[in-house]
Amino acid sequence: MEPLGIALLGCGTVGSGVARLLLTENERLSKRAGRPLRLRWVLVRDPSKPRGVALPSDIITTDFRTVLRDPQVMVVIELIGGLEPARHFILQSLEAGKDVITANKAVLAHYGDDIFETARRYGRTVAFEASVGGGIPIIAALAEELAANQILSIQAILNGTSNFILTQMQEEGVSYEAALAEAQRRGYAEADPTLDVSGADAAHKLAILSRLAFGPGPSVQEIFCRGIDQLQLADLRFAQELGYTIKLLAEAWLQDGQVALHVEPTLIHRLAPLAQVRGVYNAILVRGDVVGQTLYAGRGAGQMPTTSAILADLIDLAIGRAQLTFRTLRLWENHNRLPLRPPERIRSRFYLRITVEDRPGVIGEVATILGKHQVSISSVIQHEALDECEGEAVPVVIMTHTTNLSAFRLAVAQIDRLSCVAAPSIYYPVAD
Ligand SMILES: NC(=O)c1ccc[n+]([C@@H]2O[C@H](COP(=O)([O-])OP(=O)(O)OC[C@H]3O[C@@H](n4cnc5c(N)ncnc54)[C@H](OP(=O)(O)O)[C@@H]3O)[C@@H](O)[C@H]2O)c1
Repeated sequence: MEPLGIALLGCGTVGSGVARLLLTENERLSKRAGRPLRLRWVLVRDPSKPRGVALPSDIITTDFRTVLRDPQVMVVIELIGGLEPARHFILQSLEAGKDVITANKAVLAHYGDDIFETARRYGRTVAFEASVGGGIPIIAALAEELAANQILSIQAILNGTSNFILTQMQEEGVSYEAALAEAQRRGYAEADPTLDVSGADAAHKLAILSRLAFGPGPSVQEIFCRGIDQLQLADLRFAQELGYTIKLLAEAWLQDGQVALHVEPTLIHRLAPLAQVRGVYNAILVRGDVVGQTLYAGRGAGQMPTTSAILADLIDLAIGRAQLTFRTLRLWENHNRLPLRPPERIRSRFYLRITVEDRPGVIGEVATILGKHQVSISSVIQHEALDECEGEAVPVVIMTHTTNLSAFRLAVAQIDRLSCVAAPSIYYPVAD
């Protein structure tokens, strides 16, 4: 049978894993694919860089046009990352009649409309299992295995770096800065960790999952997103006292024809399945109307888990399975885009920490404001002064009953204007 010609764009962390397996496990992979898999080109910036894989020198190129012009390249695997030139290379590959596999969540979250529409126009397929959850087959689960369901909600831990940092803070009692330094020392965090700790990476992945589950909807910029970079150890401790842990939770749910989307540190009951997800692991809890709840967990990043997902897509493309699935997903449809559910229609419980002067009547003043905004209190704990609190200020931790997000935010803004409040209040949602 005719070999399937493959070009690899990028040969860094993930690309070198994919190249190595394509070379060393070629027989097994070709057997699974039903035809010989042939790596024809590896595109890089610097051909002299050592890559931990013995690449034949005549397949290394720095010129994308070499890939584009080769009629034997049928599949382009994009592992460059970032927005440009990745977007450009993907679009040009599709236009040249080549199928594309990518692990690039940023490019799909920002330019998915254009990429999926171009694939449809040219009758090609974009496979992206590796873009969310590394080796966890969550894309296949949503696209194929749960096809009979209307997906109702997704709750997920999608960023391994943030989850590692939170686990360190929780279990070792260290500050955010110390936990981040440890993540960097172990190679779990980049020198510039902004994309991970700001929540942006999780928001990119949530945008992809939401598109698969609910269809095209709000843009990635509309996702409400807060990372863990402002999280204080004190809040992890107070949450723990109340029986909760804090995770960077990415949530999407469908209600009344609107989709709610947010990424933020969230209190999760310590016995809930997502609270057990430690270190660099990811997990995704999906609720469907037929199946009920299903949970997917595993290594959400890293060379080999991501390679596993890329090669699964490659085998699916070789067999023709990916093409069939892709056509049924209708990821490019632009009419009837689901609107974002506005904050005034979102309800949640909240954890609220206010820092107030330690004098009589203060809690009454706070409770009055919350009551005026229909925010009902489920518990209040006044703690001893924290080291980092200035003067005589003390932290008061309030758990609310389920309340309206807009009303809650207004109440907090008003509380922060009270003369007895010594620092901006901190609040996080509580997952149910
Ligand atoms: N790392 C993970 O664990 C992981 C997990 C899931 C998904 N992903 C996604 O996988 C993708 C790749 O990540 P990675 O960690 O493997 O990245 P990486 O280690 O930074 O590798 C990027 C590769 O792209 C090449 N490259 C960059 N710009 C180029 C250009 N303009 N022209 C040609 N080649 C260029 C680089 O070439 P040189 O080597 O010559 O500089 C390098 O080989 C990203 O989208 C990432 O989000 C990564």
